Amino acid sequence: MKKWMKKSWLVALSVVMVLSVGLAGCGSKSSDNSVKKIQDKGTLVVGTSADYAPFEFPIVKNGKKQITGYDILIAQKIADELGVKLKVQNTEFTSLISDLKGNKVDLVMAGMVSTNARKKQVAFSKSYYTVRNVLLVKKQDANKFNTIADTKGAQIGAQQTTTQESIAKEQTKATVVSEGLVTSLTTELLNGKLDGVVVENEIADNYLKNYPDKYAVAKVNLTTPKSQRYINVAARKGDKKLMKKVNKVITKLQKNGDMDKLLQKSQDLQSKYGK
Ligand code: ARG
Repeated sequence: MKKWMKKSWLVALSVVMVLSVGLAGCGSKSSDNSVKKIQDKGTLVVGTSADYAPFEFPIVKNGKKQITGYDILIAQKIADELGVKLKVQNTEFTSLISDLKGNKVDLVMAGMVSTNARKKQVAFSKSYYTVRNVLLVKKQDANKFNTIADTKGAQIGAQQTTTQESIAKEQTKATVVSEGLVTSLTTELLNGKLDGVVVENEIADNYLKNYPDKYAVAKVNLTTPKSQRYINVAARKGDKKLMKKVNKVITKLQKNGDMDKLLQKSQDLQSKYGK
């Protein structure tokens, strides 16, 4: 090959290389069609576990069973922002992250806190609520668990794969009973199968408000690590455009004061249509 021919080959090769690098760059940007996909199908699918009033719970309104709650009202605002309908997909809390990663849902809104382990799997929005953990007990046991030592020998329930499960296991001296639904645990508490259930304060308050003669919060102090305090929306890591929309809605609701109103509204819906 002549010298000038070699040279032009090299030039051509480098042009191709520059072009393909450039294209690859564009490709990775345009491959985030998270918002477009939802708008094309016309529906935002949100995964939740509706055993968690006031965050998500079933109601019967106009003879129709549906799921509502604080998370669902926020989800509706996100759907409105995207200009699509909202579909709530109810499942057990344990399956939510794999449903999200497996594209069965677009977002997860289930009173989910952004633990370090979950952060490795999914992306979290800005937080819209802060929680701490307490021990829910039967009313007549209100003074039975005042210290951690008092939990020795007790049967304490917690929802599977939640931060309550790890807090119960790490902080109490009880036998921990893990189950899929919070509503089963709180029923078993009344039936005497369990002595306590670790729940977040907002959930406990809701039980106390709705059944003041049945439940109480024990005096024992549980610690809620910082990484287990902040409730957020979860999305797939690659869905950055969708996450931007989610954060935009959260910021707006926090700024105009509607965020607090939605919590109040979900409580009103519960007292009106909840069972
Ligand atoms: N906040 C806890 C966690 O993220 C419990 C959430 C349970 N949510 C539910 N809908 N049951 O682990």
